[in-house]
Amino acid sequence: MRRNPFTFGRAVTGPDFVDREEELKIVMEAMLSGQSLLLYSPRRLGKTSLLLEAKQRLGRKLDVSYVDLYPITSRQRLAEEIVGAVAKTSFRANVSKIAKNLTELLSSLRPRAVLTPQGDVGIELVLSEKNWEQEMEDAFDFGEKLAKKRKKPLVIILDEFQEIRNLDGSDLEKLMRSRFQLHKHVSYVFCGSKKHILAEMFSDEARALYKFAKPMLLGPMDPSVLERFIKKRFLSEGGRVSKETTRKIAAISKGNPYNVQRICYEVWSLSNQADDPGVVDEAVDQIVMHSSPEFEQIWEQIRGHDQRRLLEALAQEGQVSYSVNFIRNYKLKTSSHIQKSIKLLQKKGIVDEDGTISDFFFVEWIRRQQ
Ligand SMILES: Nc1ncnc2c1ncn2[C@@H]1O[C@H](COP(=O)(O)OP(=O)(O)O)[C@@H](O)[C@H]1O
Ligand SMILES: [Mg+2]
Repeated sequence: MRRNPFTFGRAVTGPDFVDREEELKIVMEAMLSGQSLLLYSPRRLGKTSLLLEAKQRLGRKLDVSYVDLYPITSRQRLAEEIVGAVAKTSFRANVSKIAKNLTELLSSLRPRAVLTPQGDVGIELVLSEKNWEQEMEDAFDFGEKLAKKRKKPLVIILDEFQEIRNLDGSDLEKLMRSRFQLHKHVSYVFCGSKKHILAEMFSDEARALYKFAKPMLLGPMDPSVLERFIKKRFLSEGGRVSKETTRKIAAISKGNPYNVQRICYEVWSLSNQADDPGVVDEAVDQIVMHSSPEFEQIWEQIRGHDQRRLLEALAQEGQVSYSVNFIRNYKLKTSSHIQKSIKLLQKKGIVDEDGTISDFFFVEWIRRQQ
């Protein structure tokens, strides 16, 4: 059996990373210049991959620490993850160096470096209920102190940053701003997929992080680049793919690299001699079928009939409309009801800012239910 040359489900870098040269240039230039960035796009357009690729390409020129806020459920974990990421970027797995610097620069938090069962270094901090603000400030300052001491600039990436709102967001935002703005050796990349939440945080004058970072919107990829990528990958493992097939995959993926990789992975599994573009429909059928438990669960969680009918309408029409025909054809109520449902669905991350359903495969699943 041959190796499947496509990858999805985790960020890609190095040989798996395609194109995005323009965007990489902007990100690397900002990182090298100490300019903080706010990077946003809908899910799965390649934000994390882009940032990790920039980190890799910058190599030894710059220390870049990466923190994913998605799994973080408390202030304490946030402090530990940021401190841990910074310490590991600077000293890799050298536990004694990490411990020495933690003690020297962060003694107020009684830090401990521990070896996890996976052989990784984990950081434990002690935060009190009473003095947590001061202690968080110390944790936020750790990167600055370390970078200054090492005389090496540092970038801290805070991925899925919108999740901060689940950890007393506005207090933490204020604390962050008050410390980050004093940092001379560290710049920050805030990254996330909930555009309206991030936009509010960074462009509302009343919010702490107002205009703190240069905004950058990551768009879809160029279809012709994706077509070349598909062909190259098929050939690299001794497969074959026709022009019609690559065109079809690129067209239905609409420049979304995840969709391309996901569909191609399945097409390759079905046939690594993909001359007949019909194999693409078969691949999409397979993906939708295998994802149906997940989609059923999402559907179950959408209790309102208005929202379900609207999703059916979006799946058929591609995009939201407020016209009389749209309302009548899909038995919706009024345009203000549509607006309300769209907002709720956006909040759940099901619908994008432009009024389309974000997951192409979910669209296909809804269509198959009717
Ligand atoms: N530049 C790229 N080249 C090839 N595949 C990519 C690229 N960027 C993203 N992908 C594909 O899309 C998937 C999602 O990428 P990711 O970086 O996790 O997106 P995001 O962080 O925006 O949700 C990856 O698992 C990979 O399959
Ligand atoms: Mg990501």
